[in-house]
Amino acid sequence: MDTFNAMVLSKENNEPKLEVKQLTQNDLPEGEVTIRVAYSSVNYKDGAVAVQQQFVESYPLIPGIDLAGTVIDSSDDRYQAGDEVIVTSYQLGTGHSGGFSEVARVPAEWVVPLPEGLSLREAMVLGTAGFTAALSVQRLEDNDLEPGQGPVLVAGATGGVGSLAVDMLAKRGYEVVASTGKANEEAYLKAIGAKEIVHRDTIVDTEETPLLAEKWAGAVDPVGGETLQYIFKTLKFGGSVATSGLAGGVGVSTTVIPAIARGINWLGINSVDYPMNKRLNVWERLSDELKPTNLDEELVNEISLEELPQVLEDILEGKVRGRTIVKL
Ligand SMILES: NC(=O)c1ccc[n+]([C@@H]2O[C@H](COP(=O)([O-])OP(=O)(O)OC[C@H]3O[C@@H](n4cnc5c(N)ncnc54)[C@H](OP(=O)(O)O)[C@@H]3O)[C@@H](O)[C@H]2O)c1
Repeated sequence: MDTFNAMVLSKENNEPKLEVKQLTQNDLPEGEVTIRVAYSSVNYKDGAVAVQQQFVESYPLIPGIDLAGTVIDSSDDRYQAGDEVIVTSYQLGTGHSGGFSEVARVPAEWVVPLPEGLSLREAMVLGTAGFTAALSVQRLEDNDLEPGQGPVLVAGATGGVGSLAVDMLAKRGYEVVASTGKANEEAYLKAIGAKEIVHRDTIVDTEETPLLAEKWAGAVDPVGGETLQYIFKTLKFGGSVATSGLAGGVGVSTTVIPAIARGINWLGINSVDYPMNKRLNVWERLSDELKPTNLDEELVNEISLEELPQVLEDILEGKVRGRTIVKL
């Protein structure tokens, strides 16, 4: 491809500009592996980069923290033209041009071979959101969560991390309670595996007491803030919460009482810096026993590069349901 299309974020006279441009490979950053991108996806962080210019290390930048495609050219022996690969995390789409482009060039250290059992499209329905949901489930189970211990709460359940966590947990036999602010998405959440739906307003911390009645054997929380405060107070004895996000707030006020009276575990999830040797294992699991059952139409909205700017705004406002993938 001599020329190709990409969504470029630039700054002129201190004014950010996001537009589809025609580029050549000379416009791409250095890296050993050049990839014809088949799909990218839209994550909350992409909205923060493209709309709010958070995390951006230099301009111009092609945003897009996820990509999946076919290697065109590689100067690293581990990859050959024709190999199907996934790239997420590290500085992709923040400090290094990313997936909102028909062609990308990345360091070989960031590349994950597409596992058997996943298509390129499915890999991007998962993307960073699916990887993060899988890490959350893995950390909860590493800390003794098992089906049959009681309900598992998923906050922000119609979002990317939330939807994929609901699906994965339900497939593994957990009783999933999904919390959402979208009153009209009950049917969707039930279709992807939730047993019960609660409104997000009912799981925020409004009480002064350090503990409330024990409810959850575990929780997946991409929301944070007062939702996380409420989860600390309502986890059952020995229960764990996997914290990945801040869609509902950064500040968390708590006491030590849930930790010492109920022995709860606060598990932090960092998908970006997760080590490559363990990362490969998580992708293998995602292609097999952690693979969600609704990676086709139920969870997915497919868009073009031209439709991206609106979705990037919408995701920051919590308006997006499930996963949006970008076909390139
Ligand atoms: N730690 C990591 O490695 C990692 C990786 C991926 C994502 N994240 C973070 O995880 C979060 C979710 O990412 P995502 O890509 O899944 O985003 P998303 O698709 O936008 O999902 C977030 C969901 O949170 C809920 N929400 C939004 N605003 C809220 C508010 N003010 N109060 C309460 N709930 C609210 C909404 O669900 P409902 O309408 O259903 O309530 C929304 O759909 C983000 O903060 C992101 O930065 C972190």
